[in-house]
Amino acid sequence: MATIRLGDVAPDFTADSSMGMINLYDYLGDGWGILFSHPADFTPVCTTELGTAAKFKGEFDKRNVKMLALSVDGVASHGEWIKDINETQHTTVNFPIIADDDKKVSTLYDMIHPNANDSLTVRSVYIIAPDKTVKLIITYPASTGRNFHELLRVIDSLQLTAYHKVATPANWENGDRVVVSPSINTDDAKKIFTKGVEEIKPYLRMTPQPNL
Ligand code: BEZ
Repeated sequence: MATIRLGDVAPDFTADSSMGMINLYDYLGDGWGILFSHPADFTPVCTTELGTAAKFKGEFDKRNVKMLALSVDGVASHGEWIKDINETQHTTVNFPIIADDDKKVSTLYDMIHPNANDSLTVRSVYIIAPDKTVKLIITYPASTGRNFHELLRVIDSLQLTAYHKVATPANWENGDRVVVSPSINTDDAKKIFTKGVEEIKPYLRMTPQPNL
């Protein structure tokens, strides 16, 4: 297992899932992807996470992001647990959960952190761009459920960078001003960002969010 870092090509794999066999690259097509692991089926925090993820699917779809969950449980277990998620979280799980009982994918993506737990996956998140490079890696412990608003926020930031050459400042939320990339000089920035550029310092230029 090689460490995966930002900018690396996400390793491809084929694995069984709650929706049948999935090849990562075929599943992603030319869209973005979010691959996220959770420790185990039939556990409380994971149940709330997967239910929340299902409710957020429309937001991921709007951003052209395919969702793919994973734990080291098998297909039959996922199938039974999904019934519980649907019942208790008042939703319908509408994306595949990889059945990684042979730990093939979790090993490939370094999702088992032995000093935290030697057999279960931690809460890893990989955001994969259309060119299959890894744009974001986040790791949460088993005891902390992820914030899906934050996952959408970072996807919005990544897509602004990819499509509009801007970066996002601390605590940025959709609609706030954004930062002109340091690779663009201020004269060029004023031509590109027609809504205006404020030069606070030569290295700190703000502009209204260009895609609104
Ligand atoms: C949970 O999902 O609630 C959980 C899973 C593993 C360890 C601790 C909590």
